[in-house]
Amino acid sequence: MVTFDAGETLAERFRSHMGHSSSLYGYAMRGMADDWEAGGPTREACRGWEDSPNGTMVQLRFLAGVFRLVLAGAAPELVPYYPCLGGTLPPDGVWPVMRQVVGRHTEQVHEALAIVPQTNEPGRSTALLVGLFDAVEAWGLDRIRLIEVGASGGLNLHVDRFRYDGPGWSWGPPDSPLVLHTQAPGVTPRAFEIVERLGCDVAPVDAASHEGALHLRSFVWPWQLERHERLTGALAVAAAYPVVVERAGAGEFLQCVLADPPADGVLTVVWQSITRMYWPATESARVAALIEDARSRMPLAHVSMEHADTPDAADAELAVDGRVLGVVHPHGIPLWVRPGTHA
Ligand SMILES: C[S@@+](CC[C@H](N)C(=O)[O-])C[C@H]1O[C@@H](n2cnc3c(N)ncnc32)[C@H](O)[C@@H]1O
Repeated sequence: MVTFDAGETLAERFRSHMGHSSSLYGYAMRGMADDWEAGGPTREACRGWEDSPNGTMVQLRFLAGVFRLVLAGAAPELVPYYPCLGGTLPPDGVWPVMRQVVGRHTEQVHEALAIVPQTNEPGRSTALLVGLFDAVEAWGLDRIRLIEVGASGGLNLHVDRFRYDGPGWSWGPPDSPLVLHTQAPGVTPRAFEIVERLGCDVAPVDAASHEGALHLRSFVWPWQLERHERLTGALAVAAAYPVVVERAGAGEFLQCVLADPPADGVLTVVWQSITRMYWPATESARVAALIEDARSRMPLAHVSMEHADTPDAADAELAVDGRVLGVVHPHGIPLWVRPGTHA
C-alpha cells in the first residue's frame, strides 16, 4: 500500500506527503514541517502525536481541523486561499496566515487530530446506478431494498434522488440539486423504486446535520471544486431526506439485516464502494459468506465498486455479483469506461 507520510519525524512526514506540490496543501505541509522543527504552534498542536504510526496522516487531520475553522467562520483571513470558498489568492502565501490561525486555535487543531479522515463521495452513485440497472434487468424486479455497508454519511443511499446524464441518456429527477455528468456511453436506464434504505459504518456520519456536513466537507481538498459542488448538492438532498446510518461493522450489520427476506417481489441489493481496503480480512470473508448464504433465501444482487486486488490499482472496478461491468474513476465520475476502452 502506498504511504503518503514516510519518514521518522512528523516534519519529515509532512514534507514527504506532497513533495514539491504547488497546491495549497503542498505549501501548507512544508510550512507545517518547518514550524514543527522550529517549535512553533504546529509543534504544540501536534503534541502527543510524534510517535503515531506512519499512515496516521496527522497532516490531513491537521489540515481538516484548520478547514473546519475556516468553514465555521473562525479564520476569515484564510478564506481568500480556499478556492471552494471563492478564494483566488495564490497558495504560496498561505502558510504565514495559516500559522497565525493555528496559533490562535491551537487546542482546536490539537483536538482535530483525533478525527480519522473520512469522505463520502456522491459521484460513486454513478457506479451504483449502473449496477442497479444491471441487477434490475437481470432479476426482472424493480422494487429495491438498498443496503450499503461502509456508507459513511449514506449519501449514496440517495442514488435515485440525483440526476444523471451521459451520451444519449439521462435519468433521475430533473429538479435534483445534484446532476452527475457521467460521460458513460451505452447505458440503458431501467425504472426502479427504492422501498427501503439501510446503511452502516464503523464511524457513521449524520449528513443531515450541520456538524456532519462540516466533517465531510473538511476532508475534501479545498481546490477540488467539482467534488465540493457534488457534496453541496448531495448534502441538500440528505438534509431533505435524512437516512440513518447505523454504527456497525459490515459483517455484523449484514448478519442482522439479511436474516429475514424482504416482502415478495423485492430485490435486495447490497452495495459497497471504496470501503473494503479498510476492512480486516476477517470482515471481507464474513461479508462474502453472509451474502452467499442470503442468496438461498431471497433475490439478492451484490454491487461493488472497489479497487482491484492488484498493487497500486488507481481505478476501481464496478462489479455485480463478481461480474466486472467496467472500470471506474475512484470518485465515480467523470470517467466510466467499459473494459478494453480504458486508456
Ligand atoms: C473511503 S470511505 C467510503 C465511504 C462511502 N462508501 C463512499 O463511497 O463515499 C470508507 C468508509 O468505510 C468505513 N469502514 C471502514 N471499515 C469498516 C468496516 N469494517 N465496516 C463498515 N464500515 C467500515 C469508514 O468508516 C469509511 O466511512
